[in-house]
Order: sequence, then C-alpha cells, then structure tokens
Amino acid sequence: MKKFLSLFFSIIIMTQTVISANAEFNAPKLSREEWDSLYASMISSNTLPTLNVGADETQVSLCWHAEKSNAVAEVRLADNEQMNNFKTFSGNKTPAETDEQIVCRVVLTGLEENSTYYYQWYTGDGWSDVYKYETKSFGDHKVMIVGDIQINEIYDGNNEEQMNIGYFWNNYLSEVLTKNPDISYLVTPGDNTSTGSTDEEWQTLLMPESLRSLPVAMAIGNHDKKGMTYNYFTNMPNEDYGRFFSGLDRDFWFRYGDVLYLFFDSTSGNAPDHMRFAKKAVEQNKDAKWRIGVVHHGIYGAGDAIGDMETEILLKNIFAPIFEVYELDLVITGHTHSQGRSHFMKSGKIKSEAPSGGTFVNPEGIVYLNSNCVRNVYDDNFDAEHLAYKLVEDEVTTYTTLEFKGDKLILETRRGDNSELLDSITIEKTVEFNDKTANKFFKKLLYKPIELLGFIYTMIDNLVRSFS
Ligand SMILES: [Fe+2]
Repeated sequence: MKKFLSLFFSIIIMTQTVISANAEFNAPKLSREEWDSLYASMISSNTLPTLNVGADETQVSLCWHAEKSNAVAEVRLADNEQMNNFKTFSGNKTPAETDEQIVCRVVLTGLEENSTYYYQWYTGDGWSDVYKYETKSFGDHKVMIVGDIQINEIYDGNNEEQMNIGYFWNNYLSEVLTKNPDISYLVTPGDNTSTGSTDEEWQTLLMPESLRSLPVAMAIGNHDKKGMTYNYFTNMPNEDYGRFFSGLDRDFWFRYGDVLYLFFDSTSGNAPDHMRFAKKAVEQNKDAKWRIGVVHHGIYGAGDAIGDMETEILLKNIFAPIFEVYELDLVITGHTHSQGRSHFMKSGKIKSEAPSGGTFVNPEGIVYLNSNCVRNVYDDNFDAEHLAYKLVEDEVTTYTTLEFKGDKLILETRRGDNSELLDSITIEKTVEFNDKTANKFFKKLLYKPIELLGFIYTMIDNLVRSFS
C-alpha cells in the first residue's frame, strides 16, 4: 500500500511538473489592424508595469506609474485566478518624471518553483486585471536573450515608426515564446529605448501582453543614456551606484539557481567602481556554478564594434580584465545590431576555438555573444579573427537561448521569424572557480593604472555631458 501511494503521488507530482514546465505564455501574434487598435488604446496611458527579475529565483518585481493622488504601491498575489486568499505585497513610491504621476515599485518574494501565480497591482484607479505568472524549475532552466529592442521615439508628432516597431516587437516575442514556452526570463544587454526620454517608448515596449508573464533583466545602453527614463520604468535588484557613477550609471547583479549575472554599465568608463562591484557580487555568490556578464557594447563583438575605437581600446581594456579576473563563463553584449559569437578569448587572444555545434569541456577563456536587435538589423561586412560565428544576412532578426542543464550550458541562436537554428555550442563544466591564484593577483595589480585612466576619462566625460 505504501509503495502504491508513493508511486501514485510521484506520478501526480511529475504530471504537475510537466504541465508547468510546458505552460504557455499568452503571446498571440497580432494582425496589423489588431496591433494598431491596441496601440491606439494604450499608448497615452503610461501605466503599464515592467516585470523585472528579482534578486534571486524566488522573487520578481513590478514597477509602474500611477496617478499621484491615488497611488498605492501594492500588489496582490494568489494561486487562483479569482484571487481568493490573496497575499498583499507592499513597496515604495518615488517621484516620476512628471508631477501628475508617481512610480510604484513592489518586490514579490517567497515564490516557489514550478508554480502558477496570479497577480494584480493597484493602478490608482482600482485593481488592475489579473495576470498569470508561472515559475519554472529553479535548477535547470532556459533564458531568452535579445538586445537593442530600441523602441523608437515619436518623430515630429508622427508615431508611425514607433507603432511599426511595437508591432514587430509583439510578433517577435510571440514567435520566441510560442516556440520556447519553457523560458524563465529575458536578459537584454540594453538600448531598450531609442531616446531614453519619452514615456511612449516604454509604453510601446511594455505593450505585448506576454511581458506580464516574462521577467526581464535590462542593461543600460547608450541610447537609454540619452535620457533618464530608465530610472522611472525599471526596478533592477542589487543596484550598485559605486563611488563615482553619475546620472543613470549603475551596475547590478542577480542570481537565478546556479547562475550569477553581473550587469555592467558600459556607458560608464568608471573602472574602479566596475571592478569593486564585480568583487562584491562574486564574494556574495561564491557557490554559483556559472558567472555570466552582461554589457551593452560589443567587446569582442560582431559588426561595427570591430575597429571601433571606443569599444576596441577604451571598453575592452576596462572590462575584459575584470571578466578574466572573475572567470566569467560567458559575456553577453549588443549595440551593433549584428549577431555574432567569439571563440574562447583570453588576454586578447584566442585561447581555443569554439566552432558552431561543438561541445567544450572545462574550457579556458570567455565566450562573447554579440546579440542582434529586434529590428533594423545591419549588414555585417566586418570580419575579425575572434569571431567563431557571425550572421551575414541582412534584415534577419535572431534570438539566443541559454539552457542551464546539469553541468552543461547550451547556447543556441535562432532566426527570429521562424526559429531556424543558426548557431549553437555547449559548454560542460565540472570544475569550480579559483579566485585566488597568483596570476589573478598580478592581473588586479596591473589593472590599477587602468582604474586611474578610466576614472579620469569618466570625470572628463561627465564634464562634457554636463555642458552638452
Ligand atoms: Fe547601443
């Protein structure tokens, strides 16, 4: 009887896990007319929430705008669509970019893996509709990567281009999430917006309904830094403002299962703060199996990052030593609107080759993945030795998935329109990090002059920006 009951409950648990693991996003492909109608009804409201990743896999957070006089920073969470027996989470309110609204931020904590949740936030005008958020496994899991979403501004009062990009963005997400319902969260290396200064860019970015169920981790790109809206539409965990950052500048980290993500703000050349941030994040996550870096600029990237002085000289010298001291396994970049991936790089050289389709066991060196963009893909006529793969075709969008599976990290890049596989590698890792070798001590010592130069550069850059 005991054996029978044990088998019975095991089957129930397995069935629930399978159902949850295969749960689908609400990510419908819309016709042009459907999108235009949705866009027209929502573009001016400025109340859509951003669902961001939390500090770890048991958390997600919401950030939204509400009318100042009625705003309450509260989110209800329940295990049923009727919201019976909901739990209320409270957060904080901070000034918005306009006097009429206020920004509410709430972190939902204590989430369990393979579970279905329903939530609603207080809009200032009552409770929002109910949305579903499903957690997947906290161990093995899959991640979506795409950069340069870069929702365009409204040009001269003509919002057609922004509406076009929103349409494209919605249907792109639909393709990715329909083919990959097991994705846990989205990592983007920045340029979320185009001008960084209009609410409409964020409203368009947040309009696809699938984003109510897909937490996002967003780096800062040079386009975001043209304005300050990133400050009002995100709620990233473990933000580090360092000693010398200014304006939007910040690094942040989060942890999901065995994976530590370090997001560096590559729009800032502030080397001492970047190094200090990496040390702090790594020391607080010594048990992480994988370390993934995210920066906007295409260090060892594809496209016009190759030969670009800012990237090749300034940013490569500031960031690559930090990545190597802390033995990052993979660095995700963007900016160039070109899909590419490097060999295993170390000290400016190819440590070992990483041809597409290969499996690499305990490799030395770092793979740099240059993510494409959602639209406006550029021609890639640039060639460089460090590239193991690059997409040459014009106007082909792509997305990459990272799958963490036991000792393996499986990277796959696919077309954004039909999910055809373009590039893949598997990294198998059975060794632990060793952060205290003599080599690393010397690398840190050699980095001191770069810290000084990076600091001076940042101060001059800040001065120039303040006058422009
Ligand atoms: Fe960029």
